[in-house]
Amino acid sequence: MKSVKTDWEKYALKEAYYSVTTNYKYRNENLSDEVKDDFFIEAKQYAEKLTAVIRTHLVKDFAPKRILDFGCGVGRTSILFTELAEEVVGTDVSENMLREAEKNKHRRGADNLNLIQTGSDLSNIQGRFDFVHSLYVFQHIPLSEGRKLLTQLLDKLEDNGVIAFHILYANELSLLKRISYWLRLHIPCIKNVLNLIRRKPWDAPMMQLNSYPVNDIAEDLKQAGCLHFYSRYTNHAGYKGLFIFAQKTRLDEENVTDLGEIP
Ligand SMILES: C[S@@+](CC[C@H](N)C(=O)[O-])C[C@H]1O[C@@H](n2cnc3c(N)ncnc32)[C@H](O)[C@@H]1O
Repeated sequence: MKSVKTDWEKYALKEAYYSVTTNYKYRNENLSDEVKDDFFIEAKQYAEKLTAVIRTHLVKDFAPKRILDFGCGVGRTSILFTELAEEVVGTDVSENMLREAEKNKHRRGADNLNLIQTGSDLSNIQGRFDFVHSLYVFQHIPLSEGRKLLTQLLDKLEDNGVIAFHILYANELSLLKRISYWLRLHIPCIKNVLNLIRRKPWDAPMMQLNSYPVNDIAEDLKQAGCLHFYSRYTNHAGYKGLFIFAQKTRLDEENVTDLGEIP
């Protein structure tokens, strides 16, 4: 977790907006107040689509009162969620990201947003939520750590609450690229040498892109009582992902698994 945090502190200091979007439009050299406005306008469309998916596939009258946005970055989605709910809690491992999120919160008048720094333990987040959200975060967290965090997030869901989170589950990288990724991740001096070859600073961070086994995630959801779920596939440059929407239902397991006589 320490290295993930250190890496994200560096990204946040160097290219906060670009590192959460990987869109060149949001590189520091292009940032102006207008470009930042675009950043939030684009996110508004995302928030609208997200609620439409939940209303269509899970909860017809979805209207959350308390939202938890895990890995909120500079506040892109957390700030929009403040228009949907009475209270939003945005959390991030990076202090520098949260500092930028705090500035955006004030600039955009999102008074009902509470920003909290978290690590591997989410016990400093009080109470339960009827919507828990996480966009492009788990992929950056090593699997064992990420699953523990997911379990804690699922614990924070109210009965009938909804969680929407993105994970990667596979990639289409060539064998050579996979080997290079593994070496850079596990043998730090290789990463450092490659940084120099690529004319980057010696200690430039490496963006982790971890895949999660879908069978483990399905089990985590089941254990948490999230028996009712819906998902959408994503594919970003060969990184295959799933956006999972799940509701913590009061249905018992039998109700869900018993299809009666299957012809
Ligand atoms: C690609 S950015 C996405 C930010 C935001 N969800 C968005 O879509 O605008 C990933 C974010 O996850 C945060 N992050 C990484 N590991 C984390 C962890 N273990 N706990 C909380 N946040 C984490 C990073 O600091 C970064 O802000």
